[in-house]
Amino acid sequence: MVLKLPPLPQRNDLVHPLSEDIDELDNEANRLMERIGQKMRWSLDACRTIAPLTLKINRLKKEKDVILIAHTYQTPDIVYGVADAVGDSYTLSKIARDAPQSVILFSSVRFMAETAKILSPDKTVLHPSPEAGCSLSEGIDADDVRKLRALHPGVPVACYINTTAAVKAECDVCVTSSNYLSIAENLPGDELIFVPDRLMGQHLRTYLEGKKTVYLHEADCEVHAAFNTNSIQRQRREARKRGIELRVLAHPECDADVLAASDFVGSSERILIEAKRIASEEEAAVMMITECGTAERAIAESEKPIELMGTCSMCRHMKKTHLEDILQAIESPRGDQIVEIGDDVIGRARDCLNQMFELAES
Ligand code: 13P
Ligand code: SF4
Repeated sequence: MVLKLPPLPQRNDLVHPLSEDIDELDNEANRLMERIGQKMRWSLDACRTIAPLTLKINRLKKEKDVILIAHTYQTPDIVYGVADAVGDSYTLSKIARDAPQSVILFSSVRFMAETAKILSPDKTVLHPSPEAGCSLSEGIDADDVRKLRALHPGVPVACYINTTAAVKAECDVCVTSSNYLSIAENLPGDELIFVPDRLMGQHLRTYLEGKKTVYLHEADCEVHAAFNTNSIQRQRREARKRGIELRVLAHPECDADVLAASDFVGSSERILIEAKRIASEEEAAVMMITECGTAERAIAESEKPIELMGTCSMCRHMKKTHLEDILQAIESPRGDQIVEIGDDVIGRARDCLNQMFELAES
């Protein structure tokens, strides 16, 4: 593997007294090391420092009837240590909608925790890092949507799930990175307003050329918008020199040039599935043009060893949450860690999300 991965979260082990049974801690540290699958970075010693936290969180989850949902971009100690469900934003919204537990703890960015609250308004939804935002969801507000509607009266508005509840409440249908093309294509009419991601919107525009006019907003993902084709060309040259095939997998929040230079475009989950398929069926290396969490899951979950090339980028918002924050939020959540949204916004935002489920599952 020639991929550069982010440093491990720093922690002071003195704040976690080893009160647990030593055998239990050793078993948990071994379980973590095996599941994470990066024995150099997440050594047995590194796993021993987090084992008291994961044991405690897993115990409290049972006692307090909590489901812990984590996005793929969360760090491996969260993904493999304490999460009950991991996936892309579409999968996780359905899990949040259908969870039988009375409390949902969403380890991710704010708009995902808000989405869980919209879909399960009677449950307590905890978000350990309320300051963990997203450049897309912060790039548009409800007023921007109302202005676009006034500019293009009668045109349906589709919003990417990376938006606040207030923005969803103004839109007709929500989409995610796993369904934006098919949902947009099947909406009635020959015009569409798509917000807020201009890069995903440009991809949609190209896909719908000759069928629909697509009006866009100007926001982008600070992580995916920063990728360019130079690194793809460099890695392709490097692979050729080594006489190996290279498959390039990109997230649709990337620039049109990057998507055109890639072999596969898909959500974080679809990129992961494709990477695992390539590792098991082809003699090829994989380059993932996305956040590092997807590569870390591929390393841990691929049945056959996967050769990763190139670099990944970290989302500073996604990486804000640590095991310590999760433990504190389960033990005694602060007011700002409990997601609250007004009934009117919840009702209208839920219609927007339900419309997505109906179109995506039909
Ligand atoms: P996914 O739904 O593909 O996981 O995307 C969410 C996201 O924020 C990507 O940057
Ligand atoms: Fe938002 Fe980009 Fe981070 Fe995803 S990776 S949460 S789109 S800033």
